[in-house]
Amino acid sequence: MQQKVKDQFIRRVIDYYATLGTAAEIQHTQSVANYTRLIADADNRDPHQTDLLELAAWLHDIGCPASRRVYGNSRPENQQHEGRLIVNEWVKEINWLTSDEKIWLANVVGTHHQFQSAVEYRFEPLFEADLIVNMTEGYYKAEKAEHLYEKLMVTTYGKELYKQLFLKKCDNDSSQPQFSSIPTIKK
Ligand SMILES: [Fe+2]
Repeated sequence: MQQKVKDQFIRRVIDYYATLGTAAEIQHTQSVANYTRLIADADNRDPHQTDLLELAAWLHDIGCPASRRVYGNSRPENQQHEGRLIVNEWVKEINWLTSDEKIWLANVVGTHHQFQSAVEYRFEPLFEADLIVNMTEGYYKAEKAEHLYEKLMVTTYGKELYKQLFLKKCDNDSSQPQFSSIPTIKK
C-alpha cells in the first residue's frame, strides 16, 4: 500500500476528530495505530495485512463522536454501531480497497471491543494495542492488569510489551525512572 494513499486516509480521520471529536481521541488513535503496526509486524503478518490493520486501528473509535451525539454516551455497542455506519459510508469512495477489505474494515470497527471477533477477523494486534493504550490511559484499574493479560493477550510481542508496561515487579522505587544506561549529554 502506498504511504501517500495511507497518509491521505489518516489525515481524513484526524480531520474528522479535529472537527467533531477531541484532541485526546486523535492521540489515543495514533497510539493504537502505532502499537498495532508494531505488534502486527512482529506477529509476521504480511505487509499488506499490516497496512490494513493499521488503517483499521485509525478507524477503530471513529463512532465515538457520533455515539455521544446520538445516544449521549460512547458505550461500546453504540460506538461500534455508529463506527460501522461511518466506515461503510467512507469506503464507498475508496477505489484502492477490495470489496472484501471494505467489509472486513466495517466488521473490525463494528466489533473491535470483542475478543472473539478479534480472533475471528484476525485483528488481534489492534485489539491488543487498544487494550495497552486503554491501560496506559487508566481506563482499567491496575489490579485488573494480570487478569486482562491472561484472558486477552495472545501475540508474542503484544504479551511481551504488556508485561513490560503493566506487570513488571520493581524492586526499586518505581517512581524513579532508571536511565543509567543513557549517557549524559554535555551542553
Ligand atoms: Fe480505542
